[in-house]
Amino acid sequence: MRRACVIGWPVSHSRSPLIHRYWLARYGIDGSYTRVAVRPEEAARFLKNLRAEGYVGCNVTIPHKETACAVAAEVCSAARAAGAANTLWYKGDRLVADNTDSAGFIHNLAAAAPRFDIRGAIVEVLGAGGAARGIVFALLEAGAREIRLFNRTRMRAEAVAAYFGARVNGFDWTRRNTALRDISLLVNTTPVGMPGSDPLGIDVGALDRSCVVADIVYVPILTPLLAAARACGLATVDGLGMLLHQAVPGFERWFGVRPEVTEELRALVERDIEGA
Ligand SMILES: NC(=O)c1ccc[n+]([C@@H]2O[C@H](COP(=O)([O-])OP(=O)(O)OC[C@H]3O[C@@H](n4cnc5c(N)ncnc54)[C@H](OP(=O)(O)O)[C@@H]3O)[C@@H](O)[C@H]2O)c1
Repeated sequence: MRRACVIGWPVSHSRSPLIHRYWLARYGIDGSYTRVAVRPEEAARFLKNLRAEGYVGCNVTIPHKETACAVAAEVCSAARAAGAANTLWYKGDRLVADNTDSAGFIHNLAAAAPRFDIRGAIVEVLGAGGAARGIVFALLEAGAREIRLFNRTRMRAEAVAAYFGARVNGFDWTRRNTALRDISLLVNTTPVGMPGSDPLGIDVGALDRSCVVADIVYVPILTPLLAAARACGLATVDGLGMLLHQAVPGFERWFGVRPEVTEELRALVERDIEGA
C-alpha cells in the first residue's frame, strides 16, 4: 500500500485528506492519506525520515512550508520563488519539494475562466506573502506582461518585485484603486474576506467589464470581493478551485494517476466548508 500524509501544526483543519481519499476511492487505488500533527521542532527530522516512516510523499501546511524547502534535496522553481513548499515526493532517493499552489492557480484560472488569455495581460495582485509569490511566479511563466503588486507592508511588495524583475512592480496598499481600469485580472492573495476581516476596499465598479476577478480565500467560497464582482457582471474565479487543483500534482506523483477535479469532488469539499 502506498501511503501519503499531510503534516502541520495544527493539522486538523486540513481538507487535503478529504480530497485525496476521494481520488483514492474513485480510482480504486490501494493507498492511504492521513493527517499527522508534527511539532515545529520535529518537522525537519520527520521530513528527513519520511520514507523510513513509510510514506511515498506528503503535503506540508503551516508552519512547515519553509522547513520543507530547507530539508529537500531538490527544490522546484515554483517552491524556490515562493520560498515555501507544500508538496514532497521522491525522485529515486532524493526528496523533492514543490509548490503546487502556482500550477493550481493557473489550472483553476483556465478551468473557471476559459476565455481569459493570460498572455500579455496586466494583472493586479493584492498581497505579497508566500501565496502571492507562488502566483506571481506562475503568472510570469504563463506570459503575463505586467504585474502590479499592492501590499499593506510596502517594503514586502518591493522585495517581491525586486526578486522577480522588471515585469513586477511593488506599490503601497493605499494605491490599490488607482490603476484598475487597464488590468485584465485582479487577484486577492491576502486573507481579507475571511469571516471577521475588514473590507478589502476595492472599487470593483472601476474595473473593465472584461476583467476577471480571482480570490484565493476559500472560506467563505463566495467572498465579498467575488460577490461584488459578480454583481457587476464580471467573471470570477474562486479559491476552492485552486485548493482542488493544487492537489493534483501530489496525487499523481504519489499514486501514479493524474486525478480529475470533478463537480462531485467540488461539491464534497463545498459541503465540508459550509458545514464547518
Ligand atoms: N486557495 C488555496 O488553495 C490557497 C493556497 C494558499 C493560500 N491560500 C490563502 O491565501 C491567504 C494568504 O496565504 P499566505 O500563505 O500568502 O499568507 P502570508 O504569507 O501570511 O501572507 C499574507 C499576506 O496578506 C497580507 N495581509 C494580511 N492581513 C491583511 C489585512 N488585514 N489587510 C491587508 N493585507 C493583509 C499580508 O500583508 P503584510 O505583508 O503587510 O503582512 C501578506 O501580504 C490565506 O488566507 C490562505 O488561506 C489559499
